[in-house]
Amino acid sequence: MKPVKVGICGLGTVGGGTFNVLKRNAEEIARRAGRGIEVAQIATRHPNPRCDTGTTAITADIFDVVNNPEIDIVVELIGGYTLAKELVLKAIENGKHVVTANKALIAVHGNEIFAKACEKGVIVAFEASVAGGIPVIKAIREGLAGNRINWLAGIINGTGNFILTEMREKGRTFEDVLKEAQELGYAEADPTFDVEGIDAAHKLTILASIAFGIPLQFDKAYTEGIARLTTTDVNYAEALGYRIKHLGVARRTDAGIELRVHPTLIPADRLIANVNGVMNAVMVNGDAVGSTLYYGAGAGMEPTASAVVADLVDVTRALTTDPNNRVPHLAFQPDSLSDHPILPISACESAYYLRIQAKDHPGVLAQVATILSERGINIESIMQKEAEVQDGLVPVILVTHRVVEQRIDDAIAALEALDDVADKVVRIRVEQLN
Ligand code: HSE
Repeated sequence: MKPVKVGICGLGTVGGGTFNVLKRNAEEIARRAGRGIEVAQIATRHPNPRCDTGTTAITADIFDVVNNPEIDIVVELIGGYTLAKELVLKAIENGKHVVTANKALIAVHGNEIFAKACEKGVIVAFEASVAGGIPVIKAIREGLAGNRINWLAGIINGTGNFILTEMREKGRTFEDVLKEAQELGYAEADPTFDVEGIDAAHKLTILASIAFGIPLQFDKAYTEGIARLTTTDVNYAEALGYRIKHLGVARRTDAGIELRVHPTLIPADRLIANVNGVMNAVMVNGDAVGSTLYYGAGAGMEPTASAVVADLVDVTRALTTDPNNRVPHLAFQPDSLSDHPILPISACESAYYLRIQAKDHPGVLAQVATILSERGINIESIMQKEAEVQDGLVPVILVTHRVVEQRIDDAIAALEALDDVADKVVRIRVEQLN
C-alpha cells in the first residue's frame, strides 16, 4: 500500500522531534499503521540543527503544505491562536486530516474546529496538546469509556512544577529557576502562560471536555498562578504534612463542573505529590475504575513527538473508516454534549490552608475561631508558631475542612477587618485526592 503523506508545519522542538521519530522508527510505525507514514513536505523558515531533513521538500510558506494535493495529513506545530487557526481551518476545508500539539488553539477554538472537521469528515487529533508524551487523552477518551468520570486532577505544566520543585528542594528563587526552564526549552514563548496557569488551564479545559462530555469552555476556567507563592508557605505546608503543587482540578458536582487551576496543598504521601521537576501527572477518578494515575514527560522534543506520531498512526488507521463511526473528537458524540454549567470559583468546594499574621496577645485565636465557626467552617488543624514572633505578630496557620469558597471569602474579609490581624490572609486550597 502507498505510504500516507504527511506535511509538517513548524520544525521547532516538537516538529524536529516528530521528523526524527518518524524517520528513526519508520519500520515499526509502518508495521503498526498498516502502511508507511512519510514526511512529504516541511514548512519552516529556519533549519533545525537537530534534524537531518535530507531531500525532504522544504517551503517557507505553511499554506504551501495545506494546499499541496499530495498531503493527506497536516501536522500543525507552529503554536499560537491566530495563524494556527487559519492554517487548521484551511487544511480541513481542503479535506486534510490534522494533527496538532496546540493546546491554546484547541482550548479556545476547538468547538469551531471540530464542527468544521465533522462537516468535512476529517479528523483533528490533539493528543500532544495535553501532558506531552503521556497518552492521557486516549486513556480518558477510550480506555475509561465505560466510566462516569467523577474528577480529575493534574500537574499539567512542567515549567511550573520544575519551579516549585527547585524552590522547595534547593531554596532557589523563582526567577532563577524560570530562566533555567526557558533555557531547557520547556517554557512557553510567553512564560507568563506557564507561571500564571494559563497553559495549565488550556490543558485542563481539554481534559474536562473529554471527561465530562461538555463543550470546550476555556473562558470559564478559574486560573491562579504560582508567582505569589512564598517559601514561608511552602515550608509551613511541609510541616503540616503537605506539598504545594500547581494543580488543575476538574470535578463534576450536581450543581455544575468545577474547572480550576491554582496552587494546591496535597498530602505529601500521595504519589502525585511526589511528581517532581518537569514531569507531569494526571489522576482520573471514574466510578467503575476508581482512581488512576498517568505519569511521564509533559514537554520536550521526543516525548511530545511520541504523542504526535501516535496520532499520525491513529489517523492512518482510520483513513478508510466511515467518519460517523470514528472515535468522537471530544469522546462523546457531538450531538450528545451536555450543558452542565461550569461553576464560578465562589461556588467551588475545597479545604483551605490559611496563614494569618496575628497580634501576639490573649483572645486573638478565639476571635479567629469565632469568625470561622459563625460561617460553618470547621477547623481540621491549627498551628501557631510562637518561635516566629516578629514585630509582635505571630503566624497562625490553619487547615479547614471542605467548604464552599464563598464562605472562606467572607471569613477572610472578616479576619482582615480585625484590629488584631495584620497583612492579607494567605489562602491556598487543599485537596486530599482520595
Ligand atoms: N510550557 C509547557 C510546560 C510545555 O511547561 O508544560 C508543554 O505544554
